Amino acid sequence: MSKKIVLITGASSGIGKETAKELIREGHTVYCAARSLDKMKDLEQISGHPVAVDVTKQETISACVDKIIKEQGRIDVLFNNAGFGLYGSVEETTMEDARYQFEVNLFGLASVTQLVLPHMREKKSGTIINTSSVGGKVYTPLGAWYHATKHAVEGWSDCLRLEVKPFGINVVVIEPGFILTSFGSVLYEPLLQRSGKGPYQKLAHAVAKGIKEQNANTSSPPSVIAKTVLKAVNAANPEIRYAAGKFAKPLIFMRKWLGDKLYDRIIMSQVVK
Ligand SMILES: NC(=O)c1ccc[n+]([C@@H]2O[C@H](COP(=O)([O-])OP(=O)(O)OC[C@H]3O[C@@H](n4cnc5c(N)ncnc54)[C@H](OP(=O)(O)O)[C@@H]3O)[C@@H](O)[C@H]2O)c1
Repeated sequence: MSKKIVLITGASSGIGKETAKELIREGHTVYCAARSLDKMKDLEQISGHPVAVDVTKQETISACVDKIIKEQGRIDVLFNNAGFGLYGSVEETTMEDARYQFEVNLFGLASVTQLVLPHMREKKSGTIINTSSVGGKVYTPLGAWYHATKHAVEGWSDCLRLEVKPFGINVVVIEPGFILTSFGSVLYEPLLQRSGKGPYQKLAHAVAKGIKEQNANTSSPPSVIAKTVLKAVNAANPEIRYAAGKFAKPLIFMRKWLGDKLYDRIIMSQVVK
């Protein structure tokens, strides 16, 4: 197995951090990008390369890509993983917040990809792995903006795959189910601030309670996704999609085969009990 030069975004926590550890253990050279450098000291201690990157700030991405090319001469794998979940009713979510959700989850991922692609094209090889979500295939109440970004990541990645295949570049989509990370706690308070008191309060509290319970009882550890990403990194011909983690496959199956009305009924019965 060849050792690869890897850039991971969202490496300061959860899925990104666990994947960085897994790839470093396997002997790959891993550049770990996130806004919080202080949360990546542990990765530095195990030979990771932390870099301060905000995926909404082009200059920080450029500086990171330039640094890797200067030090390593190439980037073999880009794991576009930075992201967060914005929840709240459509009516009560400001357009500014909605746009920021897209800035991070879609345009941020696209900006990093744009800057990495010329280097992969030059080498006629590379793998771009995008973290979508089971939420890129299914939908849940009060998650309109989050699901919109992840559905967009799915379609965007499919188009990109067709464009870059002739240059020897693979595009892979990862669809995590429920994974125990900071994702829930980042989502939870803003959801209640937006929608916890107004006309959507009953639904907002039910969704928030559901997220808390999932975190406590039914989520998979992020190592499940880290191992899945490792599989894609090491494969000569990776799958296009990997669904992994709690409920990912059953939810995708339900969405594909049940029809919209039945899916609506089942998902609402699970949220409002
Ligand atoms: N956990 C789940 O159940 C689940 C399920 C499906 C999909 N996902 C997806 O998995 C990905 C990772 O999430 P996670 O669950 O590991 O959550 P997490 O523990 O909250 O990690 C999110 C990571 O994204 C980074 N990030 C957020 N905004 C950023 C920005 N503007 N620029 C650069 N980095 C930024 C954070 O780092 P800084 O704050 O330091 O920048 C952090 O490292 C996300 O795309 C999420 O949508 C998660």
